[in-house]
Amino acid sequence: MYTEILKPDEIEKAARLIKNGSLVAMPTETVYGLGADALNGKAVADIFKAKGRPMDNPLIVHIAKIEDVYRLTSLFPPKAQILAEHFWPGPLTIVMPKADIIPDEVSAGLDTVAVRYPSHPVAEALILAAGTPIAAPSANLSGSPSPTLANHVYRDLNGKIPAIIDGGRCEVGLESTVITVADDIPRLLRPGGITLEEMENVIGEIQVDKGVLNQLEQGARVSSPGMKYKHYAPNAKIILIKGGRDKYTEYVNKNSGEGVGALCYDEDIQFINVKAVSLGKENDAVAQAHNLFGALRNLDNMQLTTVYARCPEPKGVGLAVYNRLIRAAGFEVKELA
Ligand code: TXA
Ligand code: MG
Repeated sequence: MYTEILKPDEIEKAARLIKNGSLVAMPTETVYGLGADALNGKAVADIFKAKGRPMDNPLIVHIAKIEDVYRLTSLFPPKAQILAEHFWPGPLTIVMPKADIIPDEVSAGLDTVAVRYPSHPVAEALILAAGTPIAAPSANLSGSPSPTLANHVYRDLNGKIPAIIDGGRCEVGLESTVITVADDIPRLLRPGGITLEEMENVIGEIQVDKGVLNQLEQGARVSSPGMKYKHYAPNAKIILIKGGRDKYTEYVNKNSGEGVGALCYDEDIQFINVKAVSLGKENDAVAQAHNLFGALRNLDNMQLTTVYARCPEPKGVGLAVYNRLIRAAGFEVKELA
């Protein structure tokens, strides 16, 4: 299949593809998504084939008008309404009880559906022009880092999908925050650009699911199927290092050698003797989120075998950076005494 790169002003062409049951990769403010008509089970099934995604991992449904929540869910709980008012359009996904029109392919057999109203003008225009909500996971091959450039999508999915809309670089750089309001107490399933602290300010107590910070035991019951799959696995082995600048740089230099690299902050670079990629300034978690997936792909192009990554502080947007890095590291963390 020939994969066409569309410009943002070719929305009508992309919308026709969606209406006809084909797939289109689209930019959003978080990462690129691989979209299909969310109400067409057959089209949605093709997303799983193109990505090599396990069928039991449900998809997010993207909307561009709030009224759509009422037909996609069987209940729009008050706390979800408050979250939507404050953070939509934006990088927040809300899991709610699903309505019957949601195809099984979207919800993967769960009785809930994840809904997001993205703020990217191209995503919004595409959803409106297609006249249907769009189901979309990140537009990468299952297991590789989420794409933040059209070119990342092209490298993963060239020949497997008919079109990619090139909307430039994604602003947030990490996938949306996912929260479920399907139970009594809201629970954070995946941290992202909208922080736990910001959401607690408007709806009060939120639990943090165990899977956000910890490795799940084999066979454990998971609240969000995406948690149990290996994610963002670069070719090199990543080891997360907890420690201040001096200890970290000393450790990296002591362990330097063929194929060794560092994933660190701007301020670390001058002290490091191995190939290093920076995520941005140490106290700028928003920049680190923006740069993370591109940095992981760059490391892959550097033929490294071991990468020592400096561990971010798991607060604010830093919680999302930590959550992705610890998965890239297969939960291998070394604490420097
Ligand atoms: O920013 C994003 O969220 C991007 C853009 C394209 O919108 N999408 C994205 O989709 O990251 P995906 O499929 O890569 O991640 C969706 C996550 C998965 O971990 C999935 O298990 C979880 O959301 N999820 C989807 N529906 C769910 C549900 N009903 N209950 C619990 N978790 C759900
Ligand atoms: Mg994904």
